[in-house]
Amino acid sequence: MKVLVIGSGAREHALCRSLSLDPDVTALHCAPGNAGIAEVAELHQVDALDGAAVAGLATRLGAELVVVGPEAPLVAGVADAVRAAGIPVFGPSGEAAQLEGSKAFAKDVMAGAGVPTARSYVCSTAEEVAEALDAFGAPYVVKDDGLAAGKGVVVTSDLEAAEAHAAGCLGTPGAKRGSVVIEEYLDGPEVSLFAVTDGDTVVPLQPAQDFKRALDGDEGPNTGGMGAYSPLPWADPKLVDEVLQTVLQPTVDEMRRRGTPFSGLLYAGLAITSRGVRVIEFNARFGDPETQVVLARLQTPLAGVLMAAATGNLADLPPLRWSDESAVTVVVASHNYPGTPRTGDPITGLDEVAAEDAPHAYVLHAGTRRDGDAVVSAGGRVLSVTAVGADLTEARERAYRAVGRIRLDGSQHRTDIAAKAAEAARTARSAQA
Ligand code: AMP
Ligand code: GLY
Repeated sequence: MKVLVIGSGAREHALCRSLSLDPDVTALHCAPGNAGIAEVAELHQVDALDGAAVAGLATRLGAELVVVGPEAPLVAGVADAVRAAGIPVFGPSGEAAQLEGSKAFAKDVMAGAGVPTARSYVCSTAEEVAEALDAFGAPYVVKDDGLAAGKGVVVTSDLEAAEAHAAGCLGTPGAKRGSVVIEEYLDGPEVSLFAVTDGDTVVPLQPAQDFKRALDGDEGPNTGGMGAYSPLPWADPKLVDEVLQTVLQPTVDEMRRRGTPFSGLLYAGLAITSRGVRVIEFNARFGDPETQVVLARLQTPLAGVLMAAATGNLADLPPLRWSDESAVTVVVASHNYPGTPRTGDPITGLDEVAAEDAPHAYVLHAGTRRDGDAVVSAGGRVLSVTAVGADLTEARERAYRAVGRIRLDGSQHRTDIAAKAAEAARTARSAQA
């Protein structure tokens, strides 16, 4: 199978790595890719937001499957253009991607499907915002209605900061209809659960946890995600089944009922509250960095799974196989991320990781590019250093050992990824012994 992956982050590197290990994949292409993806796939230049260009590239390459990684091309309808060219594509239509593209649309679908989520108001004036903030009380949750790469959400107990963010969203030219979503605060640990779907059948993957804040101890601003781990030793073993029944399948059924069937990857961002599971958000694509740890544990060859979703054949897919190992990924970000990140700094130590830590630990590239012989930073999140181990403690040790070999001037990473979960698992084990 000839496969073309669209995107250029560590998520796409993880997808390409897994696809390159699938014996059914005979040729692997990626556009635009990055310096790390270039080691496993042939890179091509394309404007990822231009459906006709992506479909043209896929046709020229003879691609039999196109996998669209990021949300922006999906919302722009790139999957529709590829499908119209007669090529199977893993990723929802532009209309269905509104599940991620518009928080207000997602809330409407959840209401129709009876999916548990935070109560919310969609506001379009400062007066409505003030009323909604007052109705829910602190902590305040204020969300830009449109796409904002995980950075459009402010959770704060400071009323002025909440009002200021809402005013910014209402005034942003890109914001949909100048609207902002104010919602009830959900307390409790967060879980990312992905499901592969063909619009009908829903196959959940293993849950992961993401670390959204920039700094240790969940301090600092929200980011695209600073690290992740899987599995979740503290989670109820019935969680995946419960979310399949109460969230994933009803949402996919509701999308089909509305005439906008959703195929591809449905990402449920969940809060496990004292009153039960609630959806924080849906995304229409694999999460980054959670994909890095979920795919590290998936043993079923990936291409067949994505192809079955793209062609409506998921019902015939045998159950997925998972490794019992744990996986941890630590994001190395540039100086000043998530503000305006500094780029162009050389990255060294990658060869040492490959020589000393493989195969248990490896570096997935996010924002990198080649500059002559050097690999240099080219974005906010630069690398996603991933490791597997017998448990989270070992996976953490391996991931952080590899991080320690990497040098990137001014870089930052969190030191507490999966720390609490590893500690809790150790405590649980010693209580059992
Ligand atoms: P989102 O882009 O909707 O995933 O929001 C980004 C992050 O903001 C989430 O991962 C949560 O940490 C936080 N967040 C969003 N909505 C809520 C909520 N209703 N209650 C508490 N935290 C939230
Ligand atoms: N890790 C969060 C996201 O992919 O949206």
